[in-house]
Amino acid sequence: MTSAAEFTQISPEILYFGTPVAVLSSLNPDGTTNLAALSSFWALGERLMLGLTVFGQSAANLRRHGQCVVNLPSPGQWQEVERLGYTTGRTPLTDYHRTAGILHAKDKFAASGFTPLPAQYVAPARAAQCPVQIEADVIAIHPASEDAPFVYIETRKLLVHAHRDVLNSSATRFDIGAWSPLFYVFRHYFGKGSHLGTSFRAASETD
Ligand SMILES: Cc1cc2nc3c(=O)[nH]c(=O)nc-3n(C[C@H](O)[C@H](O)[C@H](O)COP(=O)(O)O)c2cc1C
Repeated sequence: MTSAAEFTQISPEILYFGTPVAVLSSLNPDGTTNLAALSSFWALGERLMLGLTVFGQSAANLRRHGQCVVNLPSPGQWQEVERLGYTTGRTPLTDYHRTAGILHAKDKFAASGFTPLPAQYVAPARAAQCPVQIEADVIAIHPASEDAPFVYIETRKLLVHAHRDVLNSSATRFDIGAWSPLFYVFRHYFGKGSHLGTSFRAASETD
């Protein structure tokens, strides 16, 4: 039996225990697409909640133009994602950017190595190399409490593009053997591990 003596109390700098990574497409004022790395997001039904700092270009873009694409990269794209992590579409830079070592990049596709594909329902472009691309629109923006420089953006799925490589043979469902998210664990990148078990709600072939 586990005892309280086996635990100690710590003050971790971050609480990023491991979440999938997304590449968020949003529309710049000049009509070009901004890309940003995003790990603070989750899905509930058809809603996708995005957690963004107020200092970034993505939050400003989504406040002004409520459409986006949530692109899901593969583990092999971690370096493209990392390049998005230290570039911002925002200019001039803020103290937040200078402290974090984030540089300005006008063209995030060129900066990262992703290439654009037009979306069907929304104006920002998809990131072609990401095997899943979810077009979505903003339905609510929830401010954080006073001391937190974040904004929680609630979006609604409009359309899911899935590369055939991550689908089953009839291209109707995800092939969970072929699909792996890119995970951010603290500030390190991982793919998925071995299959441990199956939920009682899983579909028989794949999900
Ligand atoms: C893997 C990874 C995940 C990140 N997750 C988030 C996040 O969830 N929210 C956020 O605001 N910034 C996140 N960042 C930092 C932004 O990508 C970074 O601040 C970037 O400059 C934002 O670009 P933008 O200002 O053009 O929107 C993450 C960075 C990396 C590398």
